[in-house]
Amino acid sequence: MTVTVGVPREVAADERRVALVPDVVKRLGGKGVQVLVEPGAGESALIPDALYAEAGATVTPDVWSADVVVKVAPPTTEEIGRLGGSSLLIGFLAPLSSPQTATALRDKGVTAFAMEAIPRISRAQSMDALSSQSNVAGYKSVLLAADHATRFFPMLMTAAGTIPPAKVLVLGIGVAGLQALATARRLGAKTTGYDVRPETAEQVESLGATWLDLGIDAAGEGGYARELTAEERAQQQQALTDATKGFDVVITTALVPGRPAPRLVTAEAVEGMRPGSVIIDLAGETGGNCELTEPGQTVVKHDVTIVSPANLAATMPEHASQLYARNVQALIELMLDTPEGSQEPVLKLDFEDEIIAGAAITKDGEIVHPGAKKTVEGAA
Ligand code: NAI
Repeated sequence: MTVTVGVPREVAADERRVALVPDVVKRLGGKGVQVLVEPGAGESALIPDALYAEAGATVTPDVWSADVVVKVAPPTTEEIGRLGGSSLLIGFLAPLSSPQTATALRDKGVTAFAMEAIPRISRAQSMDALSSQSNVAGYKSVLLAADHATRFFPMLMTAAGTIPPAKVLVLGIGVAGLQALATARRLGAKTTGYDVRPETAEQVESLGATWLDLGIDAAGEGGYARELTAEERAQQQQALTDATKGFDVVITTALVPGRPAPRLVTAEAVEGMRPGSVIIDLAGETGGNCELTEPGQTVVKHDVTIVSPANLAATMPEHASQLYARNVQALIELMLDTPEGSQEPVLKLDFEDEIIAGAAITKDGEIVHPGAKKTVEGAA
């Protein structure tokens, strides 16, 4: 029987992305996979049903009983209820922050794979949705900053005088931070980057930015940062309070997996910034990197505008969906096997494969992801 992949319409209020785009429907069709798309699934990304149909998809409300259901945002309880018990689910499942999602998937007996749990290894780069969506968020954060700024980003030499370039500081040099540095420089700003992983110094400099060295090394496991000790945190906050004074824009992207966002910019630091400065805090969903951040809100404190956008990648649904769909396609292809002498692939999950094993959250009525298990135990 032909493998089917179902694409529901996303239901979260601010979720404008869709898990597969027509180009990827065509690519999967070329591999012998039949895609079922719920009517209107692409509407908020401006992709009409007709384009999916043209690419070979079947547009039907009956997408939940497909062999594989692919989503962007974590499924609601109602959505999990609609899944067939033997379905596979792929999507962002927030394994370290949403114990209720993991338990509901376990209780339903669904085998579920979280895009954010895919190991950050070279072979999995094409599936790395954290990176593809962080790229979008990093880019958009700079545009938001420029929009809220009361000053130019580039240096201007005009008959009416010379305007110096804006000084932009990016805190947290992961994928979003690197894209923010690159985008701010393209707009003509003078850029500086800071992270607790010393290897990021070279990456910052390769983008024409200055490395801010505060002398703290907190490289953790798997390429991520570890949480700082209380002493390191106090040292960092003091040094950043002194440093932020000289910047017009601060973009913060610092995260530690499964932990609250590190507090980098104190209220005192905000007070010390020049009136009209802008802070864009991309860590709002986990509490914010700035002490005065109000998650999901734009506030003005001490004449500094502090913006904490929610789900920034979803504000660019066309390209964010295109990149995400390619990530999902690569993961689905890893799950396909075409038996000898057959034209049609079958689903074959190899749990010896570190990508399949690493991304699995629930399987055989159990929570199998160690981080999700810990989160569920912690919430009990
Ligand atoms: P992330 O979104 O988890 O965190 C953003 C940044 O915040 C990180 O660079 C982290 O070091 C920094 N940070 C954490 N605590 C901080 C603190 N107290 N002060 C300042 N900065 C702090 O990072 P992302 O973008 O998910 O990347 C995580 C790692 O994964 C990186 O090492 C990156 O190079 C690696 N990676 C590997 C890939 C691959 O090999 N396929 C692909 C993409 C990323």
